[in-house]
Amino acid sequence: MAGSKDVTFDPWDPAFLADPYPAYAELRARGRVIRYEATDQWLLPHHADVSALLRDRRLGRTYQHRYGHEEFGRTAPPPEHEPFHTLNDHGMLDLEPPDHTRIRRLVSKAFTPRTVERLKPYVHDLADELVGKLVEAGGGDLLTDVAEPLPVAVIAEMLGIPEADRDRLRPWSADICGMYELNPSEESAAKAVRASVEFSEYLRELIAARRKEPGEDLISGLIAAHDEDDDRLTEQEMISTAVLLLNAGHEATVNATVNGWWALLRNPDQLAALRADHSLVPSAIEELMRYDTPLQLFERWVLDDIEIDGTTIPKGSEIAMLFGSANHDPAVFTDPGRLDLTREDNPHISFSAGIHYCIGAPLARIELSASMTALLRRAPTLTLAAEPKRKPNFVIRGLEGLRVEMG
Ligand code: HEM
Repeated sequence: MAGSKDVTFDPWDPAFLADPYPAYAELRARGRVIRYEATDQWLLPHHADVSALLRDRRLGRTYQHRYGHEEFGRTAPPPEHEPFHTLNDHGMLDLEPPDHTRIRRLVSKAFTPRTVERLKPYVHDLADELVGKLVEAGGGDLLTDVAEPLPVAVIAEMLGIPEADRDRLRPWSADICGMYELNPSEESAAKAVRASVEFSEYLRELIAARRKEPGEDLISGLIAAHDEDDDRLTEQEMISTAVLLLNAGHEATVNATVNGWWALLRNPDQLAALRADHSLVPSAIEELMRYDTPLQLFERWVLDDIEIDGTTIPKGSEIAMLFGSANHDPAVFTDPGRLDLTREDNPHISFSAGIHYCIGAPLARIELSASMTALLRRAPTLTLAAEPKRKPNFVIRGLEGLRVEMG
């Protein structure tokens, strides 16, 4: 029933986190734009609006390229959070043009379809090896045995992070990502600040080493990179870019893998169809990313007044675009609550749209396809060993683990 406990939008309620999609349906029925006092934001639950707003230049991931904090009606973050913001604010994800354009152009050179395509055999071999070990052990945790190590190794390899240091990446990334949740606690902020300091220091040293002795890796590439206008990355931009690539380069892929397999295991008819026909892998990956969206919400600042459905959202406001809701909007997706691996018309927005469209989408698709193919081929009897627990996060939607066994 609309408005009952189990369908209320409440990002801190475990019942909502267990299945946010009924609450989204209720939000969509309420309107196109909904004021949400708990986070001082305007919620946007419809696909058409989210899709249009992602491309709307009256909105920005930052406002600092146009306004000072006071001028924008906001307060500067507390000085003790400074290391996090210095790191975050110099990465392309939190920049707008012209800085965003300059940095994205330089980084894009490393993410051309051809470069990424060249990684395919390495990614598939690694997926095979990881899945092979899982099968030999008779099962294990799909999260820690396959979903995590695969994208972490790939992005670490691309950036040339020495193997001995790779275990440090996950905890740093997890602590920094705590700041992307709604209303982060002081404890989360303190963790993010500490991780920002340590991660930045680590990369500063690595960059210095690559300056002296360049390799084939992306960090060496970023040091050397300059386009026709001789644009270069500053030292801080280089550190922020490396951290962004390392974090964004695995967090969502890890969650897409486990959310996806958990959805398959809950929908045995779909899993059986996939096992019977591996040519469904590409459409299965798109459908799983839609069905249980790994990144549920993205925010934008309102740089100039906008009007949606008769409501003026004034400059200085913050909007929250509900990707999970947009991906379940029946105006775009037939029977959105049904997992349909053969779905053909699937304009999900899990990789965003507009200028911040995920630069790593082709790589993510290769990784998801590699682990799925390896699991289908080498673990055809894989079943669930224990009911998984959801992580208590909303924005970055994932599981604590996914115990599986060979049936
Ligand atoms: C399933 C996996 C992934 C998902 C769902 C995902 C999703 C997203 C989304 C939604 C955005 C844009 C956010 C916004 O509009 O505010 C984004 C941006 C970005 N992603 Fe991904 N991503 C994934 C994998 C990757 C990988 C493997 C990389 C590797 C390099 C990566 C690197 C980036 C970067 C650098 C940006 C910033 C782009 C910009 O601001 O121009 N992502 N991603």
